[in-house]
Amino acid sequence: MGSRTRRIPRLSVDTVAECLHAALAAPSIHNTQPWLFRVHGREIEVWADRTRQLSNLDPSGRQMFISVGAAIFNLRLALLARGRIPVLRLLPEPGLHELAARIQAGPTTVPSPTAGVLATAITRRHTNRRPFQADAVPWPVLDDLIAAAAAEGARLAVADPIVRDAILSLTWTADEVLNRDEGYRAELDAWTGGQPERRDGIPSYAYPPQDTTGRLPLRHFGPPAAAAAFERRPTLVRLTTHDDTPYDWIRAGQALQRVLLTATTRRLVASPVNQALEVAELRRLVSGHGYAQMVLRIGYGNAARGTPRRSLFDVLAKETSVSG
Ligand SMILES: Cc1cc2nc3c(=O)[nH]c(=O)nc-3n(C[C@H](O)[C@H](O)[C@H](O)COP(=O)(O)O)c2cc1C
Repeated sequence: MGSRTRRIPRLSVDTVAECLHAALAAPSIHNTQPWLFRVHGREIEVWADRTRQLSNLDPSGRQMFISVGAAIFNLRLALLARGRIPVLRLLPEPGLHELAARIQAGPTTVPSPTAGVLATAITRRHTNRRPFQADAVPWPVLDDLIAAAAAEGARLAVADPIVRDAILSLTWTADEVLNRDEGYRAELDAWTGGQPERRDGIPSYAYPPQDTTGRLPLRHFGPPAAAAAFERRPTLVRLTTHDDTPYDWIRAGQALQRVLLTATTRRLVASPVNQALEVAELRRLVSGHGYAQMVLRIGYGNAARGTPRRSLFDVLAKETSVSG
């Protein structure tokens, strides 16, 4: 009919590498980095790597898929920031449970300023387990975080003081229950500390200091190097989804990452406080309507140091070719 189909350009090897590096910077449970990528021309497949799933803490793979979802969000954003519309299909093949997404680099576009700013936050975002300043997070900023979660199909709710104290108390209980389990402790041991050249797990410099107020139930990764007084009135937010399937977990992961990057652009820092979601009976209490996927403590604080990541070579499925 006279209209010409415009050819969708290839992805250069450099662009693929940059986008994959962005994906690797995503947060993951215990820094397990449970993802693998396959590149076919301008399509990137994102797979969950079951060999890195925490079989004791996360038998359903919920937190593994949330982590993979966060990596998918970074990949989408990196493509967009490089002027390509990301075309996303989640869980595309019913029988292949580990294939989380196919992302194609679609037609070229001019990225919005917001996408550009969010993309610059990818390498600046780090989990911060140190005390935050006492300043409250202003409501317009919280509204931006709520909108970020909503844009990815999840709900972010700010806990009022009563709910916050209830969540903290449930988290203490959960922490105690979890620590009674040898399997939980063994898994933590396996994913913490280690040699300085280790490229996954949580290094000792990222452990939280001992909280002298005894109020905040941050996960105990190993012996703290120091003691410090944490904020008395922490701001806690809950990320929830309507349902609780792998699809919802991947959506939650994308929402989590959009929230964290938005927070980073507003000079906020964050750390998850998730233990209550890891004990089924307590998770129900934290959830309210829907299913709680993450509890985050947010606030203002000094920049935290980044944790290590594996190399591209480690996360590319072996038959992959990035020749575009
Ligand atoms: C699904 C999920 C659950 C997490 N749960 C916790 C948690 O309960 N406590 C905590 O301190 N960090 C938690 N984290 C943060 C990870 O430990 C962190 O992302 C990882 O060590 C990599 O460090 P980074 O976020 O600084 O890049 C969680 C992250 C994800 C994605």
